[in-house]
Formats: sequence, structure tokens, C-alpha cells
Amino acid sequence: MRKLIWILATMALLAAVCISCNRTPRLGRSSIKRVISAMTLEEKVRMVVGTSTDRALPPDMAPGIVNRESYPGGPSTHLTQNQVPGAAGDGYAIPRLGIPSIVYADGPAGLRINPRRDGDTATYYCTAFPTATLLAASWDPAIVEKAAEAIGDEVREYGVDILLAPGMNIQRNPLTGRNFEYFSEDPFLTGVTAAAYVRGVQSQGVGTSVKHFAVNNQERYRNGIDAVVDESVMRELYLKAFEKVVKEARPWTVMSSYNKINGTYASENKWLLTDVLRGEWGFDGFVMTDWWGADDPVAQMTAGNNLLMPGTPNQIEELIQAVKDGRLDEKVLDRNIEDILRVILKTPKMQGFVPSNRPDLEAHDAIAREIATEGMVLLRNDGVLPLEKPCRIALFGNYSYDTQPGGSGSGYVNRKRKVNLSEGLVSAGFNLDENLSGTYSNYISEEKSKLPEEFFWYIPTAAEMTLSDKAIAKAAGENDIAVLTIGRMSGEGGDRSAGEGDYLLSELERSQLGRICAAFHRAGKKVVTVLNIGAPIELTGWDELPDALLLAWLPGQQAGNAITDILTGKVNPSGKLPVSFAKRYADIPSSKNFGVSEGELNRVIYAEGLNVGHRYFATSGTEAEYPFGYGLSYTDFKLSGFSYDNGRFRVSVRNSGSRPGREVVQIYGPGHALAGFKKTALLDPGKTEDEEIVIDNPVPGDYQCGGMTITIQ
Ligand code: GLC
Repeated sequence: MRKLIWILATMALLAAVCISCNRTPRLGRSSIKRVISAMTLEEKVRMVVGTSTDRALPPDMAPGIVNRESYPGGPSTHLTQNQVPGAAGDGYAIPRLGIPSIVYADGPAGLRINPRRDGDTATYYCTAFPTATLLAASWDPAIVEKAAEAIGDEVREYGVDILLAPGMNIQRNPLTGRNFEYFSEDPFLTGVTAAAYVRGVQSQGVGTSVKHFAVNNQERYRNGIDAVVDESVMRELYLKAFEKVVKEARPWTVMSSYNKINGTYASENKWLLTDVLRGEWGFDGFVMTDWWGADDPVAQMTAGNNLLMPGTPNQIEELIQAVKDGRLDEKVLDRNIEDILRVILKTPKMQGFVPSNRPDLEAHDAIAREIATEGMVLLRNDGVLPLEKPCRIALFGNYSYDTQPGGSGSGYVNRKRKVNLSEGLVSAGFNLDENLSGTYSNYISEEKSKLPEEFFWYIPTAAEMTLSDKAIAKAAGENDIAVLTIGRMSGEGGDRSAGEGDYLLSELERSQLGRICAAFHRAGKKVVTVLNIGAPIELTGWDELPDALLLAWLPGQQAGNAITDILTGKVNPSGKLPVSFAKRYADIPSSKNFGVSEGELNRVIYAEGLNVGHRYFATSGTEAEYPFGYGLSYTDFKLSGFSYDNGRFRVSVRNSGSRPGREVVQIYGPGHALAGFKKTALLDPGKTEDEEIVIDNPVPGDYQCGGMTITIQ
């Protein structure tokens, strides 16, 4: 009898549990709407506010790097312990409904998480890939996708669900502090490159967040600046790339930008986030704010900004209160949560994926090197390159010995190592002038010992070392060639200066470059200059020109080896400029309205309209020093047979030189808008490749390619 009672009681309990299971829906098993209907109001509000509610402001910023007015006034309490230490934020979990907390982490040049954890002997380094502008300079979506696949692999294997990348704002002005995180001045090249990046990352089963949507083209006062821009210009220039990415690569999420657009914060802008992004483009993911962006949670929810990151306590209270007093319809919360849950369903966390915490960093290191060579741009070469061995090199410039992989801010990567140019050259078997190398190395370590430690928000760089005429003359006598690296650092939270030492060479850099060129040229020897920069500097009016000029950008952790691969001809340079290098800063139309427009308190007027980059330089009569799309090779190419038939452009490319190489066919349409491009395979000397470039609905007008013009009626 007792046994029977026991069995009956157990069956009754199981029945009750099943009924309650049936009653309590679970994400992945029940419809999203049923899951939402089971949430309490507080749970609903917490689903639209990140859990890093106590996340402090970043560590005190180093002077000179960050314009503190540009940083948000988030709560300065302690950092909550993220699931993945160093990640940017976490989403809210509701275990009873089967909703996991998903993890968000930066950044565009590779995953950024803490490399070490208290009480854990394991390390969590990530690969610092070449920065975005170099990726765009490759004009090769396939290589961009390959880099992004490796980045996405690290995102997944370190337990992150959504990567806060790519950054894809238009490089409206060379002084923008985050240009290195962005692709190009041109919306078409930006869109193609960003779409390849999103496809690559998401092919690894993790999400992306295309940012910063939109018209976020400077760092100064970024949290409050009002970008005043004509709608037609916005659509043609500043939204165009986002539209292409959303339609072609379907990013899981979009990150709205801090700034206002024509008076309304982007994250509170219904026209932008609902009418355009969803209504016109069909975006089906969710929108998150930038960290502590804007300040009206109700307006953000209503506009279609689904998620407030990193989340603060007062946002939770404010939204609950707003629903209670009728200022916010709970249905708006339901709608925003529905988009979020649809994305959560795709995440590794939801799929029960167990991260290994051991991605193949060696393989990714090799990929970083390969890709870095694809985006470097050869600007000048009188034949001195490629370097031949044996060759004794007088290596000048701090950045030759402290070569920078990337910039500072959220786009920084905690990499295990970096390769300086000095190391790359030695690895390739070149002899360096030991005196010079020793002097530079000692100076740099001595100077850096006086500066704060490097961390994501601040990269210490020593002031350029001064060389005596005697030391330069000695080097000219004892070496075969001079290699000089000029570098620039920039980062999130602040813009660059148009003055000396930033956009302009410093007096010391100018005189040193001149004296090195003079001494080596007098000795019948050559000078090669390498640019380790994230965005244009002035390259004109130098007292004496080096014999070769290689733009290496901020090329990731394999910088030194990749630059050496190009200098030695192991890789034939094939990069083309994704941004124009003006003859002088004042030639750039946006230079008259950058930062804050004259007489304005916090508005920047985009008075230049479409006159950004090559669209201006190619049509205004004001020439660029080095134009968009420009880049030399160690071989030559001949283009012929430019034709058009029913939406397809055709052109033949022949390698008419003596070395294998790759060319980029570029087609410009009316207004010198980039209409299409294609990078050839590696062509052997004498080989020809016929390229076909499809351009949807080409507007009537003249189309140019390699000096040939055809007119489409
Ligand atoms: C930063 C950046 C954004 C980044 C986010 C999380 O302020 O603007 O690009 O993804 O916060 O770190």
C-alpha cells in the first residue's frame, strides 16, 4: 500500500512539474512571444538594459590622448565581473525562461578581453590584426573575410557572442581620432569591405555590431555634438555603406552612435532606427546604444534602440516608472525584446557551445602577417625597392624600433607580442647599424620607463630621438641604405591636431628627414621612408624627398615582418589608397567645419556636402598629393578593352612588367563616385586577366577606368 501511495505521489509531482513546464515557456522551445508574455515588467526592462550596470568609467585617461569632455558621465562605481573579464558588457539572463546572458566585446582589429585573470594561470591573449583602413586598402573583400573569420574564431573560442565591430564611419576628415578603426572616405569601398568583414565574423557563428550608426565622424564632444547634414548627403555618403552591409551581410546588431543628427540623438532617432534602418532596409536584428550613449531611455526605446549598454541602475528604474505612468507602452518593450531574443537564439551561448579558450593563435598570427602585406601602399619608388641582400641598413626613427600595430581605445587588442621593423629586418637576414640600433633601443626604453604603462586607453610613445649631424654622417658612411620610419598614434575619445608633430611633421622630423636624405644622397646612397600611421599626414613640401615611401598603416602585431616582406619584395605591394592624401590640410573641404563649426556651441555643420575625398579632389581642380585609389607596384600593368554591356563592365589587365603582381581595376562613375572595383589574382609577367564587374542600375553618364571612358545612356 505504502509503495502504491509513493508511486501515486511521485506521478502527481511529475504531472505538476510537467504542467508547470508547459506553463513556463522556454526560449528555443516556445515561441518568442510566449516567452515574452511570461516575463514580469522588471524582467522586461532588464532585458533591454545591459547588466554591466556598475561599469566604471574607463581608467583615468592619459593626458593628451582623450578629450575628457568627450567621455560620457556614466556612474563611477566598480566594474561588475563580466562573464568574460575584459569584455565590454553582458546581457541580462532569465534562466527560468531559458534566456542566457550573452557577452559583448570589442573590437574591429581583433577581440579585446583581459589577457590574464586573477587566480588563473591560463592566458587569454588575442591576435592584433591589421586595422580597418589597411583592410580597406587591400581592395580585396576575400582577404578581409579571411581576417574576419579568424577574428570571429577567437570571439567564439573565448566565449563571446557579439563582436562590437566593424567600425565603418566615413573618414570625412583626416584628423578624426578613430580613422584607423574605419575603412575609407568612400561609401562604396566602405560598404564592400564592411560586408566582407561581417560575413567573415558571422560565418563563425557569432554576431557583429556595425558601428557607429550614424554620422559619427569625429571624437570631439562625441557624446553631445550635433552633426548637421543634408538628408540627401547623409543618404549618399554617410548611410550608404550601412545600407549595403545591412542588405548584403545582415549583421546581427547595429550600434547607434553617440552624437545627434540634425538635432536628435542617433539612439533616440526614430527616422534613422525605425523608418530607414528597418522600414527601408529591412534590418531584422537589434540596435544597441554606444556605451552610455544619450540620456532618454524612453525616447531610445520608442525610437527602436532595443538595448541600452552597458546599462545603469537609473535606466532600469526610469523605464519601469515610465511604463507604470503610461509614458512608455509595454508593447514597445515587447517589440524591442523580440528582436533581441531572435538574435540570442543564434548565439553560441544559446546553442550551448563550450568555448575552448584556446583559439589557434599561431595560425592567426600568420594570417595577420599575410593580410598586412595586402593593404600596404607603395607611394614612391625610384627603383631602390625591393631591397637586395647583402645590404647594411641604417635604421632611423623611433617607430622602426617601436612599431605600432594599432591605435588606442576600445579598438585596442591585448596581443601577446608585436614585431618591430628592426626585428623583421634582422629576421630577414639584413644587418642593421648596431650603433644606431643600440642608441635608439636604449633611448626608447629609457623614455618609455618615464611614461605610464600601456593599456587599451593609452599607448605610450617616446618623443622622437634627436640625431646629431655627426651621427647621421657616420651612418651614411658605414651603411648601404637608410630606412626611416615616421609614426603617428591616435585613438578613441580624441581627435588629432592639424599642427606640427601630428598632421604636419614636427620641426625635428622635418629636419632629420632632410639631413638623412642629404647625407645619404651625398654619399650616393638611398633613403626609404616607412609610414606607421593610422590616417593621412601632410606628405608635401618636405625639404628633400626620400627615394621610396611605403605606407604601412597600423598593420597589426606582425607589423615588422609584413613591412619587411614588402621592402624585400617577398610580397609585391598591391594596396591602393582608401583615403586621399591632400597637399595641405586647408585643401580639405571639411577642414572648415571640423570639431565645432565657427560660432556654434556644439554643432558641426557638414557644409561641404558631398565634397569628401576623391569626389572633391577629382572634380574641383584642387589636386591631392596622393589620390584615392593610388598605389604603386614592383611591376607594371596595362589595362585595355574597357567595355560595357547590359550592366557588366569588362576590362583586360596585363602584367607588362617583370614581377608577379596584383592590380586593382577601379571604375568611377558620374561625379567621380567609385562605382565598382576588382582586384586581379597574382598575375605572372606577361599574363592577362579579363575582369568583369557588375554594376547594378548604373546611372547614365561617363564611366572611367584606367584612363579609358565609356558613356552609358
Ligand atoms: C566605446 C566605443 C564603441 C565601443 C563601446 C564598448 O565608447 O565608442 O566603439 O564598442 O564603447 O567599448
